[in-house]
Amino acid sequence: MSLPRPISGNELKSFLKNAAERVDLYLKEYVQSLKESPAKLSEAVVYSLLGPGKRIRPALVLLCHDAVGGGGGTDAGVAMPAAAAIEMIHCFSLIHDDLPAMDDDDLRRGRPTNHKVYGEALAILAGDALNTMAFELIAKEMKDPVLAVAILKELAFATGPEGMIGGQVLDTCHPEEAKSNAGPPPAAALPKLQQIHRMKTGALIRCACRMGALCGGASAQSLTAIDTYGRAIGLAFQIVDDILDVTATAEQMGKATGKDADKGKLTYPSLVGLEKSREFLGEQVKIADRVSAELGVKAALLGELAHELASRTH
Ligand code: IPE
Ligand code: IPE
Ligand code: MG
Ligand code: MG
Ligand code: MG
Repeated sequence: MSLPRPISGNELKSFLKNAAERVDLYLKEYVQSLKESPAKLSEAVVYSLLGPGKRIRPALVLLCHDAVGGGGGTDAGVAMPAAAAIEMIHCFSLIHDDLPAMDDDDLRRGRPTNHKVYGEALAILAGDALNTMAFELIAKEMKDPVLAVAILKELAFATGPEGMIGGQVLDTCHPEEAKSNAGPPPAAALPKLQQIHRMKTGALIRCACRMGALCGGASAQSLTAIDTYGRAIGLAFQIVDDILDVTATAEQMGKATGKDADKGKLTYPSLVGLEKSREFLGEQVKIADRVSAELGVKAALLGELAHELASRTH
């Protein structure tokens, strides 16, 4: 068990700010190094990749690296390629998620969506580019080849048909299936919802945590603990996103709200209501808290981050 230690909210805030700055700089320099990329493509990539997002996934890579004792808690250089790559995959998922064929959104991070600025063809290709750049970055920049292969495997699994992309398919197909009575029977709706959320959003968040732990040289036991943490906050993150779609404004979120119900999406509020959604969220935060305590002093910020994400307002 961990020793109690006073945590100041400022410590987490400054960690997140510093992580975001380091990752942004790393991403910017990396994109600039791709000399043969058509200028228009690089512009569309940079528009989304360096837009004003929260950078939660890269921060989680760096936090989990530190939480298992990697680099004495300060040098997370070994985890930077993984931190940058997960933001690339995330941005690819956002660009495609917003396309007319998917959620058809015009606003993202307080600005027009990628396809509104660059057109659908370039937005699709910018998403494709980000997807491949993430893997190339790891293969090129990670010095330890054994670790690089382990990280590539984690990222590919979390991105692919059993992860984010698979989840997006389930999420996208649900409204039509429900209309044609091919949706899940009532008793199966909650497990189906949990599966969608664990895959479309949870997989990348869990992957961020696992990659950070692997880069930090985690023991098998610490990796299992980090995995449990990642699963919990991954699900929690999408429950909050669902809740905010009902309770927050577009100005607050930087993206349209109230759209899940319009589109017939399967969400926590639509299935169980807001109060029960918050209960489910609380359960996941408790799990995250417990793991953070088990991992000890170095992992204290993980517990704090779980609370921060659960109470976020954008
Ligand atoms: C939005 O993710 C998409 C979801 C998976 C819910 P974030 O809320 O992390 O978006 P940004 O990166 O901060 O814009
Ligand atoms: C996000 O789900 C899932 C991915 C982008 C992979 P949402 O469709 O709910 O995300 P927002 O609300 O558009 O950010
Ligand atoms: Mg979506
Ligand atoms: Mg969406
Ligand atoms: Mg949403």
